[in-house]
Amino acid sequence: MSLPSTIAIDGPAASGKSTLAKRLADHLNYLYFDTGVMYRAVTWLALSRQVSINDEERITRFAEEAKIDVRPPSKGDGRAYDVLVDGEDVTWAIRRPEVDDNVSVVAAYAGVRRALSAQQRRIGLRGRVVMVGRDIGTVVLPEADLKLYLDASVEERARRRYDECLARGEEVSFDAVLTAMKRRDEIDSTRDVAPLRPAKDAVILNSDELSIEQVVERALSYVQGDC
Ligand code: DC
Repeated sequence: MSLPSTIAIDGPAASGKSTLAKRLADHLNYLYFDTGVMYRAVTWLALSRQVSINDEERITRFAEEAKIDVRPPSKGDGRAYDVLVDGEDVTWAIRRPEVDDNVSVVAAYAGVRRALSAQQRRIGLRGRVVMVGRDIGTVVLPEADLKLYLDASVEERARRRYDECLARGEEVSFDAVLTAMKRRDEIDSTRDVAPLRPAKDAVILNSDELSIEQVVERALSYVQGDC
């Protein structure tokens, strides 16, 4: 049996999708493509150009016209890749709290999704790719060879995000992280266009009780067709 060439991984924020996808991509020697960076890049553009986050028209134009590049890492500062917007390195800027707080609104705009999904689909169709997001298995690559949906409780995901913030030296309270996480879940899963939900044929993995090694092991057994 041949290995799946297109692997879609969807799930809510901080469910461990990116870590899983990176591990699978390294193991298989596939491209790892985290589509969330594109929504973050457009949000960063709007914030840095002081465009109101409610200005759907201008933000849609950013999504249609900005040149967003994801490339192999140029620095050994913990990054998995470089993210460039019109040539500017925004790899860490797109992880700032103000981007976290506004990205769900931007990701709910239909025109933004149309522009970014089309680019993602072109990359995905080349194959040998592990693509991560919210709608990869349902909208971007519904024909993906393997669809995984990684889930975890909101408390567990908030705890992971909180630990990441502390490790980066950011001052945050757990309650603030939990509240923001609930708000993002609500927006991502109730929006009209491409809401977060598992594809009908997705394998659902819940990582509440599992270490990352165990999640990777289970995912690999699906990749190898053992399950
Ligand atoms: O995975 P992330 O936290 O970097 O995603 C950032 C935001 O983008 C989040 O609000 C969900 C949204 N997103 C999306 O709607 N569709 C995708 N394919 C990827 C991310």
